[in-house]
Amino acid sequence: MNNLSRPPLVNGPLIQVIRLSKHYSNGHGVIPVLRGVNLEVHPGEMIAVTGPSGSGKSSLLFILGLLQPASSGNYQFLGRDVLHLSRADQAEFRRRRVGFVFQNCDLFENSTVYENLEFPLVYAMVERHERPARIASALEMVGLAHRMGHPANRLSGGERQRVAVARALVNQPRVILADEPTGQLDRQNGHKIMDHFEEIVALGETALIVVTHDSQVAERCHRVFSLEDGILYEK
Ligand SMILES: Nc1ncnc2c1ncn2[C@@H]1O[C@H](COP(=O)(O)OP(=O)(O)OP(=O)(O)O)[C@@H](O)[C@H]1O
Ligand SMILES: [Mg+2]
Repeated sequence: MNNLSRPPLVNGPLIQVIRLSKHYSNGHGVIPVLRGVNLEVHPGEMIAVTGPSGSGKSSLLFILGLLQPASSGNYQFLGRDVLHLSRADQAEFRRRRVGFVFQNCDLFENSTVYENLEFPLVYAMVERHERPARIASALEMVGLAHRMGHPANRLSGGERQRVAVARALVNQPRVILADEPTGQLDRQNGHKIMDHFEEIVALGETALIVVTHDSQVAERCHRVFSLEDGILYEK
């Protein structure tokens, strides 16, 4: 952990999560996943979340990105209760505030790299003439400007992951929720992805919450948590 590079906490929290719980129900009963998670994240912070497979890390990110409902608990984003927003306001929150890197990348397979990055801008109603520069700059960041016209289904695994990262950054989100963003990458490219995250977070407006099994990724974060038995512990 790198306490020296931790930024001063001048603003209020970006994210405040109190006693967040999540269970899934299937035909055989209820599966408890999160059992009272507490977390406070400030702008400019990089947070790592580790924990065994199936411990609920992705579920936590989905809830923080309002992609899934929580079962109970409180979640404030910049002081606003976002769990109880209308569906339209939740969608607006996702478009404008959140950059999500999914564990399986989840690209539009038959669309080009450019189009994959354009979708979030269209949804966020970014003017057409502003899009090319935003897309080019996000792709340059991950070293893929030369693949702009490539269909997603012809990319290598590592390239897909880098496109997924660029797509999460293109909206200039306030929180980047990244689920194993370096899982498919060699060490050098993994470091580069962390460099990009660090660069954006260092501007002071945005926070990163990264789920990772990679100790080198966790070491570059300001705080490291472990999700065990439904509870989030700071390491
Ligand atoms: N939609 C769902 N319905 C029922 N159970 C689910 C659902 N989604 C996840 N689960 C279960 O919830 C638990 C937590 O899943 P989750 O994907 O959050 O774990 P994870 O920590 O991200 O695991 P991994 O490291 O393998 O990605 C798992 O036991 C999983 O099977
Ligand atoms: Mg997962």
